[in-house]
Amino acid sequence: MKTTSDFLKMKKQGEKIVMITAYDYPAAKFSEDAGVDMILVGDSLGMVVLGYESTMPVTVEDMIHHSKAVRRGAKDTFIVVDMPFGSYHGDMNDTLKTAVRMMQETGADALKLEGGDEVIDVIKKLTSAGIPVVSHLGLQPQSAGVLGGYKVQGKTKEQAEKLIEDALLAEQAGACAVVLECIPHQLTAVVSEKLAVPTIGIGAGPEADGQVLVFHDLLMYGKHHIPKFVQGFAFVGDEVARGIEGYTKAVKSGAFPTLAQSFTMKEEELNGLYG
Ligand code: KIV
Ligand code: NA
Repeated sequence: MKTTSDFLKMKKQGEKIVMITAYDYPAAKFSEDAGVDMILVGDSLGMVVLGYESTMPVTVEDMIHHSKAVRRGAKDTFIVVDMPFGSYHGDMNDTLKTAVRMMQETGADALKLEGGDEVIDVIKKLTSAGIPVVSHLGLQPQSAGVLGGYKVQGKTKEQAEKLIEDALLAEQAGACAVVLECIPHQLTAVVSEKLAVPTIGIGAGPEADGQVLVFHDLLMYGKHHIPKFVQGFAFVGDEVARGIEGYTKAVKSGAFPTLAQSFTMKEEELNGLYG
């Protein structure tokens, strides 16, 4: 399994880091078999799997439940788990307890949390307790309400300077990587150049040290909104629809199941069973 020092080395050597989200056993297994470098059990789970309108309703229990399945499917891949909304802004001891529980119960390799200077103490605390932390800057879906929706961040010089400062603070606090979501690609280039730890971009252009996409988005699998920055690399949703329609038609018409797909008992055992 690759570790945080491998990711530092990859950045130095200009080798792109591939991250994908996963929320269950088969997705994790497919991802590991395809050779991705990191898996994120994102709280995007709330939207693409659980059908919520945002990531806010996702609980620590939800994250643990799904992360355990992902770990079972990807035993040899670096797994990052999102700390969900509201789980790291209260009392620091509660935050540490939650983080320790998430690590121990899921077997994750790192935790990710959204936010800049306001979560620096949390990054320090978790790191000093031995928990690798990934920072998440730019568009922070857990704060979409405060940000006024899902919008590109860091477009003005002032916002860009703040983001650069937050990224440097996160690195100093011990973050092992920084996810940059929905920011101008030129800003991604600046941040990636200034940091020693890798940047992982989503909607942040080609200059990031790595890329992450949501499993269901890149496979075009689901009924949720697909953001502009996504590319569909396969069209699984169309196949799923085709399969379920085919099954429905076959049952209605009697074409499925056939006797060849059924079990048979001996004729003599049938004597007297009818009428
Ligand atoms: O929850 C998630 O999937 C994420 C990625 C978009 C980075 O945080
Ligand atoms: Na997330």
